[in-house]
Amino acid sequence: MGGLRFFERIGSTNDEAEAWAADDAPDFALVVADEQTSGRGRSGAKWFTPRGSALAFSLVLRPSESEAEHVGRMVGLGALAVAEACERSGLHAEIKWPNDVLVSGRKLAGILVESVWLGERLEATILGIGINVLEDSVPPAKALAYPATSLQTELGHPVNRLDILGQTLSSVLGWRQRLAEGEFIREWEARLAFRGKEVVTKASEGQILRGILLGLEADGSARLQTNHKTVAVRAGEMTLRPADDRMV
Ligand code: BTN
Repeated sequence: MGGLRFFERIGSTNDEAEAWAADDAPDFALVVADEQTSGRGRSGAKWFTPRGSALAFSLVLRPSESEAEHVGRMVGLGALAVAEACERSGLHAEIKWPNDVLVSGRKLAGILVESVWLGERLEATILGIGINVLEDSVPPAKALAYPATSLQTELGHPVNRLDILGQTLSSVLGWRQRLAEGEFIREWEARLAFRGKEVVTKASEGQILRGILLGLEADGSARLQTNHKTVAVRAGEMTLRPADDRMV
């Protein structure tokens, strides 16, 4: 278990982790970069990782059979771990379903889960995590799809990136052991931003759904109460925003 590849500069740690997974990466192999030149977010978005200020890393997970049955929870695993690391620094963090961590209503971190399949078999899951640590890691306002912040901005003092990395990894290890438990979903649900509020989900192909965010299904889908019925929305390429957001 384990193994570390550190890069001062790389395209994307997820790409490196995926290539390593296709080779011989053990479970929990870690790729960390100080700077990413083509960091990726969900739905083809770019992820900003300038030198010396952010945390960008990817874990290669070799899922057990039980974990493979709960692959839809992996994004929650990353989000819960980051939220806990924020809380250990004294900040209250929420999870904007499915993959964003918010502090003070602003995005502080994002999770990108990519799976490597061999036929029907889940060979590896790449858990990519990007955290805005120092102020310089927050993208310029014009590049933002959602307001953003950093740990330094929220805490009012610089933060040690290695400490945050260590805390996040230890939370990933802890919650991974509980991935299949009902408690995992309850904990994820308890941290959901906009729970009980009207939200709008948008699929990358353009399909829009409006409803009250009730909670989560066992597979990590969001449960929405629309005018007509209760609907489960699968994470896939979905984005979610509060219905009163002017950018909807
Ligand atoms: C998102 O908010 O859409 C997800 C962002 C995920 C960014 C991280 S940074 C480390 C890893 N490498 C990447 O290229 N992306 C993820």
